Amino acid sequence: MTAHLTHVTHPLVQHKLTLMRQKDTSTAVFRQLLREISMLLAYEVTRELPIMTRNIETPLQEMDAPVLAGKKLVLVSILRAGNGLLDGILELIPSARVGFVGLYRDEKTLQPVQYYFKVPPHLEDRMVIVVDPMLATGNSSVAAIDLLKKAGATKIRFLCLLAAPEGIARMKEAHPDVPIITAAIDEKLNEKGYIVPGLGDAGDRMFGTR
Ligand code: URA
Repeated sequence: MTAHLTHVTHPLVQHKLTLMRQKDTSTAVFRQLLREISMLLAYEVTRELPIMTRNIETPLQEMDAPVLAGKKLVLVSILRAGNGLLDGILELIPSARVGFVGLYRDEKTLQPVQYYFKVPPHLEDRMVIVVDPMLATGNSSVAAIDLLKKAGATKIRFLCLLAAPEGIARMKEAHPDVPIITAAIDEKLNEKGYIVPGLGDAGDRMFGTR
């Protein structure tokens, strides 16, 4: 059985994440590090993809060699910061299908409201990897996964860079069947809902907005 929470402690991941956290890291370097770290995290999250064998011929002889089985996996980006993780993963898995979920926070109710939802067909037959760099309150992740389950997804993974204990607890309560893979578990959320120590606003840092 897959653990509910996997903390990827690989030294390369940890080193790159430290560089990303530093406030003086430029947008260009932040983006490059994000691309690299996404590939390393993708390696971890795809560990359990099913494989089968295919008969091939090497220059020396025939063999039954392993290949990925089943339908193409789906990457679902939670807009907009999810797109930063998406790019690197797509380099590693170019045939993956891609979906997008757009949510904003209603200022009165503080609840996430959907403004965009577009996903590939046959979600029920595919592994679905939801990507969002920051698991903070967990509200948008939980809402996005609610929508994906309604659309038929049954085998879902959640991939992030940083997770706050509050977000992990919220996900565990709402979606105990969805394993979380993260490069770090930070201390807490501050009063504005930012992860601390964190890396700031992931979207602003990767897109150069502020
Ligand atoms: N989203 C961000 O971009 N940063 C945080 O710290 C929390 C949510």
